[in-house]
Amino acid sequence: MVAVLQETRSPMPSSPSTKASSKPLAFVDSLPLSPTDCVGVVGAGVMGRTFLKAWLDKGLVTKKQLWATAKTPTTCQRVSEQLGITAVTVPSKAPLAKTKVILVCVKPYQLEGVMASLRKVGVKPSTLIISVVAGKNLDFLQAQLEENTPVIRAMPNTPAVVGQGMSVICPGDAATEDHLAIARTLFGSVGQCLQLDEHHFDAVTGLCGSGPAYMYLIMEALADGGVRVGLPRDVALAIVTQTVLGAAAMVQQSGRHPAALRDDVTTPAGCTIAGLLTLEDGKIRSVLARAVEEATKTAKGLG
Ligand SMILES: NC(=O)c1ccc[n+]([C@@H]2O[C@H](COP(=O)([O-])OP(=O)(O)OC[C@H]3O[C@@H](n4cnc5c(N)ncnc54)[C@H](OP(=O)(O)O)[C@@H]3O)[C@@H](O)[C@H]2O)c1
Repeated sequence: MVAVLQETRSPMPSSPSTKASSKPLAFVDSLPLSPTDCVGVVGAGVMGRTFLKAWLDKGLVTKKQLWATAKTPTTCQRVSEQLGITAVTVPSKAPLAKTKVILVCVKPYQLEGVMASLRKVGVKPSTLIISVVAGKNLDFLQAQLEENTPVIRAMPNTPAVVGQGMSVICPGDAATEDHLAIARTLFGSVGQCLQLDEHHFDAVTGLCGSGPAYMYLIMEALADGGVRVGLPRDVALAIVTQTVLGAAAMVQQSGRHPAALRDDVTTPAGCTIAGLLTLEDGKIRSVLARAVEEATKTAKGLG
């Protein structure tokens, strides 16, 4: 906690590194904020509310320090009631002046308008702007803001809702290591966080953003298999769910390659090799890999 505080107030901010590692970034469980500093979320939809709730639950900010915006008064009212924070359609000048970080969580087509309204209300050029908006790159974000405003682009995925998200972050030129530490804390509160260069972002969208949907389809198909061989659907789904969770934990905790773990459970002339060969007959490997390729191509077209 103290280390981050000291780094953030350093008069000579260090440049962000351009490392791209598969090792999740260390989670720092506090933010370098004074009690009067604020954090805002522009776009309190599915993603925005996930972050707001996680930050409050983890004690990263107090209700007083948080504010949010949404397009409609109905959403604002819901957010205020559910989370006990200020939620308005347009951020007012007073909290904006005290705001150190703004997380932008609107749809891609809404981004330009939202940035224009932030400029109009007078967002400070020292405020860190983090965007999770798919397909909108750092150049685009930077062009919407005053020069040298620190910007970070991020891509989380929906398991963030249950604290098991995978997020990738990438700093703009004006973002420092201290800003990255803040982003790491904010995204680490909803799962794991990696830092990658921006040229990987379309691939990240195709794998990380869309990945949960691929897994849901695979889980559904496996449960169908269970039903086909006589299991009640709820039992089949419960088995699939725990099996997927368990297999993921084995890969994560053992650090071994999935192929090695698969070999461990593949008895000669046994049931597993019979099932595996059937999957290979259906070209499962190339089908899944091509799904990521196609989603990545589509992501390239979003900007
Ligand atoms: N969901 C995912 O899996 C996922 C993953 C990674 C990244 N993302 C990105 O996250 C962004 C948000 O996705 P989402 O699923 O959270 O969308 P969402 O549920 O539709 O939320 C968007 C929110 O933005 C608000 N909004 C619209 N215009 C606004 C304005 N002018 N000022 C303030 N708020 C405004 C909307 O308010 P109202 O509710 O009043 O309409 C809504 O609450 C998207 O760009 C998406 O690419 C999503």
